[in-house]
Amino acid sequence: MENTRTKIIAVSSGKGGVGKTFISLQLSAALIGLGKRVALFDGDLGLANVHVLLGLKPEFDISDVVAGRKSLQDTLLQGPLGLQIIPGASGQRDMAELDGRGLARVLQGLNDLLPKPDFLLIDTGAGIGTHVTTLARLADSLMVVIRNEPASLADAYGLIKVMHGDFGFQKFEIIVNDSTNAKASEAVFTRLNEVAVRFLGLPLSLAGIVPRDESVAIATRRRQLLAEASEITPAVAALRKIAANIAALPAEPDSPDFLLDRLGPSTKATLS
Ligand SMILES: Nc1ncnc2c1ncn2[C@@H]1O[C@H](COP(=O)(O)OP(=O)(O)O)[C@@H](O)[C@H]1O
Ligand SMILES: [Mg+2]
Repeated sequence: MENTRTKIIAVSSGKGGVGKTFISLQLSAALIGLGKRVALFDGDLGLANVHVLLGLKPEFDISDVVAGRKSLQDTLLQGPLGLQIIPGASGQRDMAELDGRGLARVLQGLNDLLPKPDFLLIDTGAGIGTHVTTLARLADSLMVVIRNEPASLADAYGLIKVMHGDFGFQKFEIIVNDSTNAKASEAVFTRLNEVAVRFLGLPLSLAGIVPRDESVAIATRRRQLLAEASEITPAVAALRKIAANIAALPAEPDSPDFLLDRLGPSTKATLS
């Protein structure tokens, strides 16, 4: 029988501009290519851009859910390849400073999505603020996107440290994005891993290396996903491999089905 539990994949990075949204969209497309039902939540709440990248105009977005005007189900947008999109709000400061009650509405809505997707991807947005870490804490699998630059490594480490130290997260899947040299990208992963082992006693996993892809810019201008193009570029191939590994992951036996329960009693108490 088909497993009806939704697996949650959060894509985070600490630093902005390293490819979270790109990876979230392309991984979604790759999972759809494997026959999975996928929903993508634009968790970059105040500066949303998933729908912009796809040229979609949402009638409602997450700010309507937070305010209690609409259910999260009402905001669902039909994206390319059958991808379901839960759009964020663009340029709304109150969204970037989401309060407990608003967040509870969002989590309830994600919980009640119908039909239940096989995968819910969350593009968390940048930083290590509360709403980023709260969304990341929902994940069965947390992907941390890095790029070969010192600020990216430092910020990824900051995210890992908070998720591990404050919230007990143990598993971090690193994606080295925008790679122009596989050896150098492996070395970047090794460097981050060494720091995590030395200071946190925590080994990281390398989920994959995604090459720089010159056709991204063209696809973006056309408001398309790379996966919609006929050519399978090295980046698409790398993302398909990561998606296949994600799809093969067994469900986390310990993670509660009800999303609010994943946040622990103290956070839960603040969401009322
Ligand atoms: N592997 C890649 N090859 C080429 N361009 C990329 C790649 N990954 C990301 N980009 C581009 O880099 C820019 C930043 O990526 P984006 O996904 O918006 O970052 P973030 O969501 O982390 O802020 C975008 O213009 C995106 O198209
Ligand atoms: Mg983004």
